[in-house]
Amino acid sequence: MQELITKTVPTGISVVTVRSGDKINGMTAAWVTQVSFKPAMIAASIAPQRYTHGLIEKSGYFCINALPVESKDVAKHFGFKSGHKTDKFKGMRYTNALKGSPVLESAYAYIECEVVHAYEAGDHTLFIGTIIDSSELKENANPLIFRWNDFFGKK
Ligand SMILES: Cc1cc2nc3c(=O)[nH]c(=O)nc-3n(C[C@H](O)[C@H](O)[C@H](O)COP(=O)(O)O)c2cc1C
Repeated sequence: MQELITKTVPTGISVVTVRSGDKINGMTAAWVTQVSFKPAMIAASIAPQRYTHGLIEKSGYFCINALPVESKDVAKHFGFKSGHKTDKFKGMRYTNALKGSPVLESAYAYIECEVVHAYEAGDHTLFIGTIIDSSELKENANPLIFRWNDFFGKK
């Protein structure tokens, strides 16, 4: 079922980053999309057990880092380890968006959002944010598209 959805309804892959006080973290997310033009709003679906989830709740901000096709290793790094146990930013180069969310060197664009709604959506939370800062860092990048088998093997 999950494999069918990701084969037929494509999404890109982002790293959702966050800063809360002196803590920073990032996690790979396929379930990110724009949901409004005016105001410009983004939804990110994040499971409560993710370390990122608690930090977004505390800070009230998150940042979408759009990954290019050549950054599959970055998606795996942020998608298969948890900030509960690992500092995923150790040795990693990044800058800061307006509210301090990390912006990855490998991202071709970033969009920082302020959380305006958080809805329970089954086993995930749908964080909806208005855009407060954004920039295209590399023009004409080819986005990394989520294919289930590329990350989770055949089901
Ligand atoms: C390709 C890919 C896409 C993912 N998409 C999501 C997603 O949309 N929402 C989510 O909650 N977790 C998603 N994950 C899982 C998290 O990235 C993963 O559990 C991560 O280790 C959480 O990190 P954290 O505990 O440091 O926040 C995805 C993982 C991969 C590899």
